[in-house]
Amino acid sequence: MISLENSRLLSKIATNDGHGENTPYFEGWKAYDRDPFHLTKNPTGVIQMGLAENQLCFDLIEDWIRKNPIASICTAEGVKNFKDVAIFQDYHGFSEFRKAIAKFMSKVRGGRVTFDPDRIVMGGGATGANELVMFCLADPGDAFLVPSPCYPGFVRDLGWRTGAHIVPVHCDSSNNFQVTKQALESAYEKAKNDKINVKGLLITNPSNPLGTTLDRETLKNLVSFVNDKNIHLVCDEIYAATAFDFPSYVSVSEVIEEVENCDKDLIHIVYSLSKDMGLPGFRVGIVYSYNDAVVSCGRKMSSFGLVSSQTQHLLAAMLNDDVFVSNFLSESSKRLKNRHDYFTKGLEEVGINCLKNNAGLFFWMDLRRLLKEQTFDGEMALWRVIVNEAKLNVSPGSSFQCSEPGWFRVCFANMDQETVDVALERIRSFVGKEVKQTVPPTPKAKRNWRNNGNLRLSFNSRRHEQEGFISAPHMMSPHSPMPQSPLVRART
Ligand SMILES: Cc1ncc(COP(=O)(O)O)c(C=O)c1O
Repeated sequence: MISLENSRLLSKIATNDGHGENTPYFEGWKAYDRDPFHLTKNPTGVIQMGLAENQLCFDLIEDWIRKNPIASICTAEGVKNFKDVAIFQDYHGFSEFRKAIAKFMSKVRGGRVTFDPDRIVMGGGATGANELVMFCLADPGDAFLVPSPCYPGFVRDLGWRTGAHIVPVHCDSSNNFQVTKQALESAYEKAKNDKINVKGLLITNPSNPLGTTLDRETLKNLVSFVNDKNIHLVCDEIYAATAFDFPSYVSVSEVIEEVENCDKDLIHIVYSLSKDMGLPGFRVGIVYSYNDAVVSCGRKMSSFGLVSSQTQHLLAAMLNDDVFVSNFLSESSKRLKNRHDYFTKGLEEVGINCLKNNAGLFFWMDLRRLLKEQTFDGEMALWRVIVNEAKLNVSPGSSFQCSEPGWFRVCFANMDQETVDVALERIRSFVGKEVKQTVPPTPKAKRNWRNNGNLRLSFNSRRHEQEGFISAPHMMSPHSPMPQSPLVRART
């Protein structure tokens, strides 16, 4: 809690709620931090399924590092470069690094487009890159349209320090959460009527939390929409290389070449290596803008969030290794697909469906039939049972600003196979118990559970309220003592 005294002493930013930490999204993290699962040391703990991290390919990166000691400045082979890397760097970044990133971005997009290294601007992760682009495009009070459900961190990243706002474009399950022209127009018109100055549209492709990609036609419509309105289009493509299935991934960089009279000054891409390479700790964020003024201003601003020169040095060598990169990209999407299919098929067997997705480090689980009431209170009641009883930290749809209760995001690439099996077992017993009493557990009957909408909870959620488990996450203090603030790691 901010005391009255501090609210006088500190700035408005320091004392407002724009960090977004007091939401269920972050509360699930706290539940995990209090009682983290460990296969042998704490097998009854909470399993972290709220962390969109790609941990499936570290062996490939570690192998490359072992074979290329000269790329690290802290090895006998590489130390001769130590001084050159450690001294002052300007905000342009190493040119080899920018070239390597441009080449990598092109490879991730199937080589169908090229990127100009001189347009690569550094930010501290996609978090810093998104904020940087906002500082360049919006004044305090201006707004960006953002299709929802969307990444919970956007409230903080786009608005906390810049003073910009998010106007959600509500998408729902009636068309698999696709962004339609009507939804965009109505959000835009409503904002105008409310006297909000809309400066742009921000999309995430592939989507977090849906794990779906935008098709070429939809992307063209979005580009036309921003052109018609003369507003910006920021495309957060942080999950570009996580596409693991058909239809294959299409980037806005391809589409702008195909839209007639596209004003490229309005188009900006945000990228990062946090997801595609599983390196969120490296804080490699990129703004790739087609607008010269944004590149120029963004570069100066990037002084506030440069990528460390040591990281640039290592990655320049790694990403310039064509054989390594090709193998990494194909192996990573293969492993993501295997893990995704294993998990979602395991859920299907107990009658749980997910939105069909072809990308991402997560899937969007449909638990609407488990809700006691079809409201967000009902969703939170179910979420409490899942976290406290089943001990799974999944993230409720409301924290992604989903307009429909009953959806949950489940991350699948941040754990080992044994933990996946424990998680699946917990989900099975979680939904299975009550059903088992009424339906014989045959494969045929399992299918019936799915069809007759008979899924019900096997735990008494009221017990939690009586026993003082997490009860109303939005009521809890985000600043309650814990080993490590979730904000530090909640960049997912
Ligand atoms: C859509 C989206 N944008 C940005 C970020 C922030 O990423 P970074 O770790 O590179 O700051 C995330 C992290 O989950 C994300 O999902």
